[in-house]
Amino acid sequence: MKYQLFYEDKKIKWEIKEKFMNATMSLEKIKHYPVMLNQILSIISPQHGGTFIDCTFGGGGYSQAILKFPNTNVVALDRDKITKKYANELKQKFSKRFSFFEEKFSNLDKVVNERLNPRAVIFDLGLSSFQLSDKERGFSFDSKNFLNMEMGINEDSAYEVINTLDKEHLATIIKVLGEEKDGKIIANKIDKYRRKKPIINSHQLAFIIKGAKKNYNNYKRNPATKTFQAIRIFVNKELTELISGLIAASKLLSDGGILVVVSFHSLEDKIVKNFFKLYSILKRNPSRYVPVTENKSSLFKFVIKKPIKPDKGETEENIRSRSAKLRYAVRNNNSFIYPTEFTNKFLNYSQLEAGQI
Ligand SMILES: C[S@@+](CC[C@H](N)C(=O)[O-])C[C@H]1O[C@@H](n2cnc3c(N)ncnc32)[C@H](O)[C@@H]1O
Repeated sequence: MKYQLFYEDKKIKWEIKEKFMNATMSLEKIKHYPVMLNQILSIISPQHGGTFIDCTFGGGGYSQAILKFPNTNVVALDRDKITKKYANELKQKFSKRFSFFEEKFSNLDKVVNERLNPRAVIFDLGLSSFQLSDKERGFSFDSKNFLNMEMGINEDSAYEVINTLDKEHLATIIKVLGEEKDGKIIANKIDKYRRKKPIINSHQLAFIIKGAKKNYNNYKRNPATKTFQAIRIFVNKELTELISGLIAASKLLSDGGILVVVSFHSLEDKIVKNFFKLYSILKRNPSRYVPVTENKSSLFKFVIKKPIKPDKGETEENIRSRSAKLRYAVRNNNSFIYPTEFTNKFLNYSQLEAGQI
């Protein structure tokens, strides 16, 4: 799958990566908005107490808001080590009611006791404002630091993906994970460039992509947006994470437990929507002559049909919230069954992220 480039300049890579590792970012300077917090609180009702799992701790916006209610406990996870700073602050304030794990949410069942019986499990997907704004991380188009794009606990960085991945595979990633019609043209351009010298930062990558797009001045967004989304998803195996995370959360929840997901792009929302639909009463009856009965293989007794979106006030204050969609489902009392239909439906994403397509 990977091929060796003519140079494979490891020295350049490690010098820049080391610089990144030693850099300290000023987190305080970045304003942080927990997306759709009020809507989430009204869905999970922490005023009644109970245990809540915050699978994407970030700046701790949701965890902190929940812990303000007495008789609540929060178990939080995040794969990004930088979030530990906020977690430690909460730990000092709520030592008995808060715990944090630097872990990917696909491993939820490895860090949480299966009898925890949470009232809700919450996912707020994607990048935090800290990750996006930190030029050292390489998520932004103008970053001149190492081409990283790692959220944390990764195997490869964007540097390896861009410089060593097979051209055809790269084209498929850009096309499928970025929903970018020009995937092949962009992959060809990247390949032409990297044969001369390695692509070492996001600024360079954005410039190369721009050169592959026709009439790029007419674009409302940066012409590299979709490709950056694709590379970031691939580097962090985000869709595989989401699929495994939803499954782990449903296994942990018992009757009445709520699964809440805030997503930021159509691939994520498609996965969440399908999962809820396939394992709830919303699943289409095999025949219209068959009466609607509760499906024994269902997992949810209630699912909202249309996603909740942020209100105008929120989108004006926090532009990042514009693309947010919130969906939630309430677990029924059926025993957990492994959702094979769901995993099969999205097998192409898991295989693509695993380098098998
Ligand atoms: C949008 S932010 C969450 C913000 C948070 N709700 C708040 O109010 O501060 C998403 C966070 O999820 C983390 N994350 C993304 N994918 C993850 C995964 N698979 N496992 C664990 N954490 C993940 C990111 O590192 C990031 O910190």
